[in-house]
Amino acid sequence: MSVMRTMKASAFLALAVLSVLSTGCRRDPASPGYTYMPDMAIPVSYDAYAPNPNTRDGQTLQRPVPGTVPRGMHPLHYEVTATDAERAGRELANPIAATPAALARGEKVFQTFCRVCHGDLGLGNGPIVPKFPAPPSYRTERLLRMADGQIFHTITYGTALMPSYASQITADDRWRAILFVRRLQGASGAPSETQTAAAERPEGRR
Ligand code: HEC
Repeated sequence: MSVMRTMKASAFLALAVLSVLSTGCRRDPASPGYTYMPDMAIPVSYDAYAPNPNTRDGQTLQRPVPGTVPRGMHPLHYEVTATDAERAGRELANPIAATPAALARGEKVFQTFCRVCHGDLGLGNGPIVPKFPAPPSYRTERLLRMADGQIFHTITYGTALMPSYASQITADDRWRAILFVRRLQGASGAPSETQTAAAERPEGRR
């Protein structure tokens, strides 16, 4: 058999396989097809939102008992006030050690959620400024002295013009972002590669 004929034959075979496959795709995707042994296909349990004659309120999905704390969540007992922000500063300590991995994650959180206002280096000149009022530089005396717990309160509840980031950033990631804020303040040595690159980029291209 010549090479040409072998190629033709395999092309034909490929076409045949393709057409069988594509007919297979045209079936109703919502239909499970033939069911030979339906035992497990038809569940006997109640669906989460189905009415239920066995429970007191007639609903399947039950509300958690008041005061229930989800796994991994640490409840916070602070008000959105300046007094409680300072109290958080006295009472809370960063539970996350400043390992390279934690700092890298903190940098990512900062780049995602904080940089737009606070700027790559935390100087208060993010790309949205001055359309949004400039935040203070992290290097101001007040912020250099601010306790980790108060920064945690700030990210969790927001302050003045700064919104809360509690719903976007997990508590642990907020602490990691604080590790990175500390680094921006010069607490732990040389700036990271991203910072150096950002500092070298021309204005307006941040
Ligand atoms: C939408 C813009 C914006 C974003 C995003 C933002 N901030 Fe702010 N931040 C501000 C402004 C504005 C202030 C000054 C608040 C004020 O009016 O006193 C501020 C203040 C702060 C302060 C000082 C609080 C105080 O009591 O003076 C800290 C610390 C801070 N931000 C950290 C962060 C961190 C960390 C993130 C990211 C998780 C972040 N911010 C995201 C706008 C922002």
